[in-house]
Amino acid sequence: MLVLGIETSCDETSVAVLDEEGRVRSNIVSSQLAAHAPYGGVVPEIAARAHLENLPVAFEQALFEAGIEVSEIDLVAVTAGPGLIGALLVGLSAGKALAFARGVPLVPVNHLEGHLFSAFLRARGEAALPVERPFHGLVVSGGHAELVRVEEGRIVPLARTRDDAPGEAFDKIARRAGLGYPGGPVVDRIAARGNGSRYPLPVGRPGDGSNDFSFSGLKTAMLRELQKHRVNGGRPGGFGGPQGPPDTLIDPESLEPDVVDLLASFQRAIVTALLDRVETVHREQRMRSLAVSGGVAANSELRRTLLEWGAARGVPVLLPEQAFTTDNAAMIAFAGLLRYRENGAQDPSAATARSRWPLGS
Ligand code: KG4
Ligand code: ZN
Repeated sequence: MLVLGIETSCDETSVAVLDEEGRVRSNIVSSQLAAHAPYGGVVPEIAARAHLENLPVAFEQALFEAGIEVSEIDLVAVTAGPGLIGALLVGLSAGKALAFARGVPLVPVNHLEGHLFSAFLRARGEAALPVERPFHGLVVSGGHAELVRVEEGRIVPLARTRDDAPGEAFDKIARRAGLGYPGGPVVDRIAARGNGSRYPLPVGRPGDGSNDFSFSGLKTAMLRELQKHRVNGGRPGGFGGPQGPPDTLIDPESLEPDVVDLLASFQRAIVTALLDRVETVHREQRMRSLAVSGGVAANSELRRTLLEWGAARGVPVLLPEQAFTTDNAAMIAFAGLLRYRENGAQDPSAATARSRWPLGS
C-alpha cells in the first residue's frame, strides 16, 4: 500500500510518498521562505499563489523520487486544517481531484496530528517506529503549543497556549532584533554562545491554575529589554503584520555580548516554560513516553533539556529527525495512514478546509 501525502497549510509546499510500514519513499519540501522573508512573516496571498505554482512540480518530483506511477497510489492524505484557508484549499483541491480521478480513498488530516506522529518517522528508508498508545505529545511550532495524551481512538488535549505560540515568540523577537525570519534557527545559533541564566525573564502561567502556556508576558518583557539595549531592527514601528516594506537585517555576529546573553535568556525562558508544564503533567498522570514535534522541536536547547529530563525520570523522549520537524508531507501521509486504519476513508467531496481545528475535536 502506498500513501500520497500533501501539505499546503502554511508556507511549505510538500508532497510525500509513504509505504504501509511508514517508510518514507520520498518527501519533497518546497519552501517559500525567500518569498516571505522580506516581510518578516508569512503573507497569506503570496502563500496561496506559491502553492499553486509549486504543487505540480513537487508532486512530479515526489513520484519520481519514490520511483512510482500515479496509478500505484492507494490512498491520498491531505492537510485540511488548521492553517491559512487559501493555502489549504490548494492542497485539498488537488488531493480531492486526485482521489476522485483515481478512485482511491481520501483522508483529510489535521496538521497538528501530522506533527504529533512525526517523531515516529525515520529518515533514510527505515520503517516508522511502532506507535504505542497511550503516549503524551508536545507540539511546539510557529502557530501552536499543545500538550496532549494520545489514547486508543482519541486525543485528549491537556494544555495549549493562551496567546502566542513559542515559534511565534521566536519569530517576533528575532524580527524586532533585526535578525530576520524565521527567528527560531537564528536565535538558537546565537543563544549557543550566550549566557542563558543572565537575565531573569517571566515564564508565565495563566493565573487560573490550568496547565496552559502563555508567552505574551515574556514577549513584552523581551521587547522592553531590547529597547533598553537600544536594539530596534525590523521595520520602523515594529511588527504590526507582514504587509509593508521589507526589513533591514543586521549581522548576528555584530550583536553586543549583552544582547547575545539576553537572547540566550529568552530561549531559556521558553524552554523552561515548556519543561515546567511537561513535568507538571508527568506528576499528574505518569507519562509512558513523550513525543515532541513541530518546528520548535528543532531547537537544540529544548532537545537537550527534554532528553535530560526523560533520562532523569525514566520517560523515553522521542524527537523528530530534523527533516520532519518543520512542515512536511511525510508526517501528513503517516497521520493519514494511521487514521485510515482506525476510521477508514471519507467521501472526498465532503472534505472541507478548516482554518481552525483544535486537536482532539
Ligand atoms: O512547524 P513549523 O514549520 O510551522 C508551523 O506549523 O508553525 O514551525 C515553524 C516555526 C517557526 O516559528 C520557526 O521560528 C520555528 O518553528 N523554529 C525554531 C527552530 N527552527 C524552527 N524555533 C526554535 N529553534 C529552532 N532551531
Ligand atoms: Zn506545522
